Order: sequence, then C-alpha cells, then structure tokens
Amino acid sequence: MAPSLLLLLLLLLLISSSSLPAPRRTFLLNSADRPLLHFSPPDVHNTSTLLLSEDTSTLYVGAGDALLSLDVSQTDVIRLKKKVEWRPSDSQINECKYKVRNPTVDCPNLVSVLQPINSTHLYACGSHAFSPHDAFIHTESFSLVEHGDGKARLRCPHSPFRRSTAITHDGELFTATTTDFKGAKPQISRHFSKDGRPDVCQESSASLLQDPEFISSSLDLSERKLYFFFSEVGKEFRFIDELQIARVAQVCKDDVGGLRTLQKKWTSFAKASLICQSPKQLPFNVLQDVFTLPPPEGKNASETLFYGVFTSQWSSGPESAVCAFKLQDIRDVFSGSYLTLNTQTMTWAPRQERRILGQCGLETASDQDLGDVRKSFLTGEGVKPVKNTPLVVSPDQRYSRVVAERVKVVNGKEYTVLFLLTESGFLHKVVLFDGGEQLVEEIQIFTEPQLVKSMVLSSAKGVLYVGTSEGVTAVPVARCSIYSTCSQCILARDPQCGWSRSSRVCKSPTDPHQDIAQDVDHANVSDECQGQTRTITVKGGDIGLFSSAVSDPYNR
Ligand SMILES: *[C@@H]1O[C@H](CO)[C@@H](O)[C@H](O)[C@H]1NC(C)=O
Ligand SMILES: *[C@@H]1O[C@H](CO)[C@@H](O)[C@H](O)[C@H]1NC(C)=O
Ligand SMILES: *[C@@H]1O[C@H](CO)[C@@H](O)[C@H](O)[C@H]1NC(C)=O
Ligand SMILES: *[C@@H]1O[C@H](CO)[C@@H](O)[C@H](O)[C@H]1NC(C)=O
Repeated sequence: MAPSLLLLLLLLLLISSSSLPAPRRTFLLNSADRPLLHFSPPDVHNTSTLLLSEDTSTLYVGAGDALLSLDVSQTDVIRLKKKVEWRPSDSQINECKYKVRNPTVDCPNLVSVLQPINSTHLYACGSHAFSPHDAFIHTESFSLVEHGDGKARLRCPHSPFRRSTAITHDGELFTATTTDFKGAKPQISRHFSKDGRPDVCQESSASLLQDPEFISSSLDLSERKLYFFFSEVGKEFRFIDELQIARVAQVCKDDVGGLRTLQKKWTSFAKASLICQSPKQLPFNVLQDVFTLPPPEGKNASETLFYGVFTSQWSSGPESAVCAFKLQDIRDVFSGSYLTLNTQTMTWAPRQERRILGQCGLETASDQDLGDVRKSFLTGEGVKPVKNTPLVVSPDQRYSRVVAERVKVVNGKEYTVLFLLTESGFLHKVVLFDGGEQLVEEIQIFTEPQLVKSMVLSSAKGVLYVGTSEGVTAVPVARCSIYSTCSQCILARDPQCGWSRSSRVCKSPTDPHQDIAQDVDHANVSDECQGQTRTITVKGGDIGLFSSAVSDPYNR
C-alpha cells in the first residue's frame, strides 16, 4: 500500500460498518443451563500455555511457577495427575527484585513455551525471575530437568508480560521472542538443530524487525517453511510515528545460513503486511491472535487458513475484527515483488526483479546475492484476506483469542465455527456463512479481565479449554438441550445441533442422520419443524405451543 493511500484512509472518518449481530443466547458465569467445568485450585495461577496430548486424554499446563499434567479423559471432571514446581530460588528472586518495578508479578516464573520435543519429552521455557530458564519434562513421570546451555534467553522472554511464540518439529525448536532484559532485541531462531547443522538466527545488526510483538507461528511442511505472525512498527510509512502494522514473516525450515555472507543467519527471512480492513474504514492493524486451521481432509495444504484477531491502533472503544488469510495467498506474496532498504536513508524503494528473494536453498548463493537478501526482505504487496474484507467486525467487543473448527452438518455441507474470547471474559461462538455470520451464543468464562489467556480445542471431545489467571475452564462446544423446541433448535443455526424428529429433542447430530432436522443456512422452521407440534415448558413457566412456528421466543 502506498503511503499516500494510507494517509487518505487515515483521513477518512470512521463510519460504522456492518457488524456482528447480537448473540441469540447469553449465559452468565456458571449458569445452570450452560455448565462449565473449572479446575482452579488455590495454588494454581497464571495459566499461560495449554498443550493437549495427541490422544487428547492429557492437558499439559504451563502456569506461574509450575507445570501441570491434567487428566481430561472424562468430560465431567478434570483431575490433577502431576504438578511440578518450577520456581526461581530465593537468591534469584532477590536479584530480580532490584531490577524490576513490581517484584510480585514480575519475578515469578511464567512458563510461556510448552511444546512436545520428541516422543518422550516436552520442552518448556519460562521467564524465571527475569532470567529465562528452560527445561525438558519427561511426559510419563512428569519430572523436570533444567537445561543448562545458557541459551534460554533466546527462546522465551524475560518479562512475564511479553508475548513470544515457539513451535517444534522433529526435535528442532523454532522461536520468535525478545532476547534481552528490556525486550528491545527481537530474534527469530532455530535451536537443537539436527544432523550437525548449525543453529540459525537473524542478523542482529540489521533492522529486520521494528519493536515487534510476536503472536503466533505455523509450520508449512509441504513447502518446508515456517510463518511467524506479529505486529511491529511500520517503518516504511515514514510520515506517521509508531504506525503499527500486522505482519507475517517466513523462514525456511532447513536454512543453514550462507557460506561467508550471512553465516549461521537466515538466508530465507522475509516479511509481508497482513491487511485487515473494511472498505472505507481505518485498518485493523494490530494483531492479537492467529489460529491455523488445516484444510479439510484430502485437500491441498495451500487451502490452510489463518484466522487472525485484529484491533485498531485508532479505536477509542473495544472494537475488533477477524480476518482469514489463505496459505496460498501468503505464498504468492512471498514469491512476488520486493522492496529494497536504502541503509543510508532508511527508506524503502521497489526493486525490479525478485530473482532469488524469498526462496529456500540459498546456502551456496553468492555473496552478492546474499547481499541482496540482506536488504530486500519486505514484500511489495501485502497479504489480502479471504473475501478481501474482515469476516467478523465487532464494534463493542475486544476479541483477544480465537480458535476455529470445521463442522460437517447432516446434509454434508461444512461450516466454520469460531470461538472468540473477549477481553471482558465472554466466549463468543460464531458461525460463518457465505453471506454473513451468526453469533450463536455468548458464555461468560471469567469476570475480572485476565492478562494471561490461552485456549485449546479438542474437536474430538467437543471441549474447549480456556486458561486464565485462575486456572483452566472446560467449555463444551455446544449444549443443544438449551433449545427445547424444534423452532428454537433450527433458529439457533448451530451446526453442532439438530432436532431429532423421533425423540423430539435438540441434540448433537449422531448417526443415523435421517432423523435429524437441521437448516443452518436458512433456518427454515416451517420446512424443518413440520408436524413437530409439542407442548413445552420453558424454565420460568413460559408455556407455548409450537407448530411450524416462525417466531422464536428468544429472538432478540
Ligand atoms: C528426547 O529429548 C530428551 C531431551 O533432549 C532426551 O533426553 C531424550 O533421550 C529424547 N528421547 C528420544 C526418544 O529421543
Ligand atoms: C498472574 O496472576 C495475578 C493474579 O492471580 C496477576 O496479578 C498477575 O498480573 C498475573 N501475571 C501475569 C504475567 O499476567
Ligand atoms: C497443491 O497446490 C499447489 C499450488 O496450487 C500445487 O503446486 C501442488 O502441486 C498441489 N499439491 C498437491 C499434492 O496436489
Ligand atoms: C421455507 O421453505 C418454504 C418451501 O421450501 C418456502 O415456501 C418458505 O418461503 C421458506 N421460508 C423461509 C422463511 O425462508
């Protein structure tokens, strides 16, 4: 985007755009109609990272001064299997106290990385009294052995309030974090590199990143690339100070650096802007979260979608938006045009040809080519979202986390369901349609705003786990029994609920499907509920007779 265009957009007044309709149902915390399962013992706090075991029976939790292993094999109970304390020593705490403003919150060990590293161990990294430490955890015994190579500061942040991202593959660890006390030195690097190849990181002298906040990362195995999502200051727009830009950066998984130039440094690093903007509106330019949704089974990896939650640097209220980006569109941008940095004036100019930029396999490239790579690492085009516009815009909710899943309904059609966590403590279940979206329900998960938040979905179990400062909450993705009539069930448009004509209840569709009435696209009650007359008793004594009813007592 040309700077002048952006300036024009900045001058446009904010007019309210089409936004998310009100939720059809609202459940306050611990409503009897929509029960949640809490795991919040008094000695567990700041649940910052959640990791579900492959068989979905164990939930590993990175928290404040501790790691936990929870048995989640049953849907009605969360049981503590093992807990290991992982706190800084008294002398480490004392040392920390002199360095920070608020020792009580700054000096505990906040675990920010928890990833499987091989078939027997997990890897963890924590802030550890402003002096990052890392460790391996044996998954069976859940015993922790601190790792002593002195490089933990390159793998997770010093401050418990800084965000970072990490991803493991085949025993190797890829991280994007700030690496110093002040959080001013960002670094994307590979650790525990296999087969004797060197660990690789970024050139620290070059201004490759500008005060980034790292959000998320994803592995594209088919192209052997990693993507890192973050926001940073957009230095290519020189006319505005501190303009935030959402970005995606790439590196090649197997990059080993150059022969002379860029030794042990990425030869494949490049970054691109992520665009999330409604027509004639200010851009949503600050990234809050990104969720990677793999393609439907049997589909090409290029169909992978990244759902991003964005806020705007110019919002006065709690506004936010969701944009989805297709992997193929990201690939296309990285194989398109590039800008070149003039290191004297620190300005960007378009370059004529791409040649080798953004490619893997440059380890034997000439010094001249790698010199090009060093100054041409920003793409000419930004990545446009699916449909060219946000999928969800909320004028009054600040979303902070997102997970997405594909749900196949009775007629075989697939829908995407988003679970969005608001800053104020509500979970929004949103169904995306070709022509819009429906906020099926909102469920209150916590009452006080939480700094630490994490979500992990078990589609197989139908449970979403939310980590907060208070512990872990399990939220069933649907509770169809809250819809007591056929019309309520159909009008909810929840792909995870259908009306059983024989047993006359709203339930999650299981085989056989012939019995289930469902119309997620049109919610045509007169069609679907024909002959489903039934006297119902709604809580609160509201008694009604519904036969091919088109009205909905809960329609607001
Ligand atoms: C997994 O990694 C840990 C830590 O490096 C190591 O001790 C263990 O032997 C590894 N296990 C396997 C099966 O490779
Ligand atoms: C950890 O939780 C406490 C409250 O339980 C909160 O005051 C503190 O800010 C949290 N720390 C972080 C890093 O969010
Ligand atoms: C996936 O799609 C890409 C780009 O559209 C194509 O180059 C590739 O051959 C496809 N792969 C498979 C396995 O079909
Ligand atoms: C429902 O479907 C019937 C017939 O298929 C149609 O006549 C009616 O207009 C539809 N109602 C709505 C609300 O779409």
